[in-house]
Amino acid sequence: MNVYDAILKRRSIRKFKSDLISDEIIKKLLIAAMAAPSARNMQPWEFYVISNKEVMSKIRNVARSIDFESPLMIIVCGNTDRSITKNDNDFWIQDCSAAIENILLTATSENLGTVWCGIYPVMDRVNKVTEIINLPKSIIPLGVIHIGYKDEEKEERTQYNDEYVHYIN
Ligand SMILES: Cc1cc2nc3c(=O)[nH]c(=O)nc-3n(C[C@H](O)[C@H](O)[C@H](O)COP(=O)(O)O)c2cc1C
Repeated sequence: MNVYDAILKRRSIRKFKSDLISDEIIKKLLIAAMAAPSARNMQPWEFYVISNKEVMSKIRNVARSIDFESPLMIIVCGNTDRSITKNDNDFWIQDCSAAIENILLTATSENLGTVWCGIYPVMDRVNKVTEIINLPKSIIPLGVIHIGYKDEEKEERTQYNDEYVHYIN
């Protein structure tokens, strides 16, 4: 699948089969994540790959809108010790978002379903996830990606809208 096809095909999937994902595919997702661009190439990301049922259940309970039964979760976090963002900005959010999108697109190309659920900047979610997976202070959970084989189908689509485009010639 080429990248453009994967971009259009990717949809948020919230119903998953229980089939497990191979270690090989998980590694492929992580390699894709870490190939993302980052400000000054600081790569300020940490990936928590979770398949432990008890931990996943606790994460799902953090908020109703992230309560989806997938066999795998990846929580993508920003490491503020390894970021140019330490003093006066928050580029780690953009860096980690690029990594998340790479995971979503690679998963799509492997016929997996995903949904990206936001954690930061909802501080209640940040605090609960931090406690559940015991994150150090400098690590901030940005989002959780639920990943699994799809148990629902969604049409590929474009949301192209001329009104959002502004040409300056
Ligand atoms: C930063 C961010 C946070 C999101 N948080 C949630 C969430 O908490 N729960 C959820 O079900 N979907 C969440 N989504 C998925 C969006 O609802 C979804 O991408 C949007 O409705 C468009 O649908 P599509 O992904 O199928 O194109 C989030 C997406 C992003 C980018």
